[in-house]
Amino acid sequence: MVTGVAGFIGSHLAEALLERGVTVIGVDRRNAETDRAAAINLVPLHQHPSFIPITADLRNCAVEPLLLDADAVFHLAGVPGVRPSWGPQFGDYVACNILATQRIMQAAARLGVPRLVVASSSSVYGPTDGTPSKESDPVRPASPYAVTKLAAEQLCLAHAARPDCPTIVVALRYFTVFGPRQREDMAIHRILTAAVEGRTVHLYGDGTQRRDFTYVLDAVAATIAAATASITSGVINVGAGTTFSLLDVVDHTRRLIGRPVIRELSATHSGDVPATCADPTAARSLLGWAPAVDLATGMAKQLESLTAAHQNAMV
Ligand code: NAD
Ligand code: UGA
Repeated sequence: MVTGVAGFIGSHLAEALLERGVTVIGVDRRNAETDRAAAINLVPLHQHPSFIPITADLRNCAVEPLLLDADAVFHLAGVPGVRPSWGPQFGDYVACNILATQRIMQAAARLGVPRLVVASSSSVYGPTDGTPSKESDPVRPASPYAVTKLAAEQLCLAHAARPDCPTIVVALRYFTVFGPRQREDMAIHRILTAAVEGRTVHLYGDGTQRRDFTYVLDAVAATIAAATASITSGVINVGAGTTFSLLDVVDHTRRLIGRPVIRELSATHSGDVPATCADPTAARSLLGWAPAVDLATGMAKQLESLTAAHQNAMV
């Protein structure tokens, strides 16, 4: 079962599982009829004979029937995004990221699902000096979103630590994922879209903030490995350990579109950390994972997919 299947990472994960011959029960509260982004994300999935889509809200739906025959649960559903989490939506962050996670985890343990992979976030580390973060480093979440992601991973691990819990839990701390179908609120999507349309690119801060950008299919490969590797419960970073600034992203964009990019700087947002960088040692040793796609190549693929979507919209 994949939760958050109509989302950016969940839809790529489901596609990759189906390509490997796995039957996927895909759950999301958004559906293609009422939500444009969900419709686009679900295009590669909905014709597939082994895809079972379920529209349900994990805050209150009956969870156990969804998990009955699952070999693994990939729990990616959640309300993402650092910056809006300060606002009135915080209740939704708590309900979807923590309370819904408790419901899924409880059901998985009760039904004896052998493995649960839960999406956590690099944001749990909070502000760092840009040196690689190890899973054992202290966590200092700097936004309400990050607090909910830390709560979600620790909640699942607390269940897994019970002697009677049959479920192995792997919490993956994804580092800023990018690629085709990236969420519309995220930086690379916004920068590429604005540049292609000849609009000004808005950077929060001076553009020197650095991210360990992870290509979506690399994140998916780590996620599938986390469901099958012979490991015990724990946390694993999903990031290469290589960082780029937003100004580097703008520079790559200029090279990709072959013309200057107009940019405007504005205030930094609360909770936005100056740098993220993964120590990928655990991912390498426990999952046999190494990222295959670098920023320039991944941005080129993302641009290709944006341009195709743009042309389809004009037909
Ligand atoms: P996304 O918003 O594209 O996908 C999340 C999906 O979860 C959405 O389709 C949403 O409708 C669904 N969802 C939310 N609450 C739900 C509920 N109550 N019931 C059913 N469905 C619900 O986000 P994404 O970027 O694909 O992120 C997926 C997961 O990975 C999230 O948990 C996010 O916190 C985490 N994460 C993402 C990144 C990133 O860079 N994209 C980095 C770190 C962690
Ligand atoms: C991303 C995801 O959005 C979170 O869901 C996820 O948990 C987090 O990665 C993670 O790694 O855990 P973030 O790093 O903030 O969060 O990614 P972006 O939204 O792409 O922002 C990257 C940087 O660009 C931030 O400093 C942000 O302030 C900046 N930005 C974003 C802009 O300057 N302009 C924009 O229009 C958007």
